[in-house]
Amino acid sequence: MIERKSLGIAVVGAGRIGSLRARLAAEYPAVNFIAVSDADPARARDLAREVGAQFHSGDNLAAISRPEVNAVIVAASEGEHALPVMQALEQGRSVLVEKPLALTLAEADRIIAAVEKRKANLRVGYSRRYKDRYLIAKEQVIQGRVGKIVGAAARVYNSRSQAFAMLKRNPGATPVVDALTYYVDLLNWLLEGAHVTEVFARGQKGVLKAAGHDTDDVSWAILTYSDGTIASLGVSYALPEKYPALGHAARVEVLGTEGVMILDDDHTDQLMYTEKGVPHVYLPDHSVNMVFLQSGTPGDWALGEFLGPIANETRAWLDHLALGKPCNLATAPEARRTLEITLAIEQSAKSLKPVALPLAK
Ligand SMILES: NC(=O)c1ccc[n+]([C@@H]2O[C@H](COP(=O)([O-])OP(=O)(O)OC[C@H]3O[C@@H](n4cnc5c(N)ncnc54)[C@H](O)[C@@H]3O)[C@@H](O)[C@H]2O)c1
Repeated sequence: MIERKSLGIAVVGAGRIGSLRARLAAEYPAVNFIAVSDADPARARDLAREVGAQFHSGDNLAAISRPEVNAVIVAASEGEHALPVMQALEQGRSVLVEKPLALTLAEADRIIAAVEKRKANLRVGYSRRYKDRYLIAKEQVIQGRVGKIVGAAARVYNSRSQAFAMLKRNPGATPVVDALTYYVDLLNWLLEGAHVTEVFARGQKGVLKAAGHDTDDVSWAILTYSDGTIASLGVSYALPEKYPALGHAARVEVLGTEGVMILDDDHTDQLMYTEKGVPHVYLPDHSVNMVFLQSGTPGDWALGEFLGPIANETRAWLDHLALGKPCNLATAPEARRTLEITLAIEQSAKSLKPVALPLAK
């Protein structure tokens, strides 16, 4: 008989992702208590009403420290993760925090020290790991079907509309640190066992700079791993405002000594055109006529169910806590390595020089 632990979940941050996680948690059979907090108490109240949560507050600690709570989801904006994560760890809670773990290595190190001190269970939601095509790719690697991986490539495109929203809420959340990060994590996960020793990158400025953000429109990087594997990574979050990607249009390739995987994740095979317009997830006043269906990063609503990476990932994390099943979410040290690589990409693009890892503290 599997032992089932009952769960009380605090959701910190009642925005787009926090709302999805809260809904998914509320429907999970082992969850019998939900608390919601947000810097904006009205948002916390509205989400609590929507999911039938028992508690809501404008004070994160009040939600995290409720005695019914044993696990915390931190879905606040990128620059606001560290404090609620530390509060949750101090209260002995398990934690799921959205990517990136933090925006600086110093913050990430403080979190890792707290995790280690308390032998806590902290996971980071790099939800690409829970997109079916990448889970299936990981299985092929584990089965050895591509042989030894010697090279990889990943690039992701999005329209500038989402970049503007990201940069407005947090100037440190650049397309590299906030979006390419998923594919850095993905390649690190597929290449498990090797670590990045050198980063070489170039970037070019354009419309994001013209709009007042000191960040590149396009970034390309070459990563060298400790076993000699080379990977090419790229991101542009500056495609025209009405480009049909509603999140990520991506392509990932894995080259091995005995096989190769070409993972076409652009979603150009799922086109919809509508005269009625589709609202953009990140911009309430913005709508597009053409969309690549399923290109939104979290997933999609269909017939009252939320389907896709965030749904798979949230349920896997809840199964992990309630049933003790292993899960594939990134650990804190893995998330720190990914953060370090993204910061090194920015550093190399600025200095025009290769950057050796680990970065100096
Ligand atoms: N895995 C995915 O598919 C995915 C997709 C989008 C975003 N994300 C990540 O999820 C996180 C949230 O993104 P979002 O799109 O939901 O943002 P959002 O702007 O919709 O929501 C953020 C919420 O956090 C609240 N907030 C800000 N500071 C806070 C604080 N100190 N304490 C409590 N609440 C606070 C804001 O009021 C807002 O309600 C980010 O880390 C982002 O990178 C993940």
